[in-house]
Amino acid sequence: MNVREEVLITKALEAGKNAYAPYSDFRVGAALLCEDGTVYTGCNIENATYGATVCAERTAIFKAVSEGHRRFAMLAITSDSEDYTSPCGICRQVLAEFCEDNFPILMCNRTGEYTRTTLGELLPFAFRL
Ligand code: THU
Repeated sequence: MNVREEVLITKALEAGKNAYAPYSDFRVGAALLCEDGTVYTGCNIENATYGATVCAERTAIFKAVSEGHRRFAMLAITSDSEDYTSPCGICRQVLAEFCEDNFPILMCNRTGEYTRTTLGELLPFAFRL
């Protein structure tokens, strides 16, 4: 694990502590590294309507884009699970709006162990206009 990845994973684990997940009891954290070195974090925020729930990854992406960042270098995703945390299909599509197929994604578990993948592996033949 290199230092840059370790820092990003630590930030994602921290963000996951703010998760609002009373319905699923599944807490997720995300940390998005921008090309300029800025990091935006996110957590999942659930809603009584279920459908209004937003994932940790999209929280981080939307925070970054709304602050003027569109060029991203890496994403770390954590949860309180023992398994690696895989981003949902909607989050993969949102990532595809801003990131190329070689964009690195660290899928982590609750202790920070992880496997490294890319957006292209998770979402082959992504739809882009
Ligand atoms: N969740 C995320 O935050 N990210 C993912 O990629 C997978 C799912 C959240 C949504 C919901 O609050 C909970 O995990 C269970 O689906």
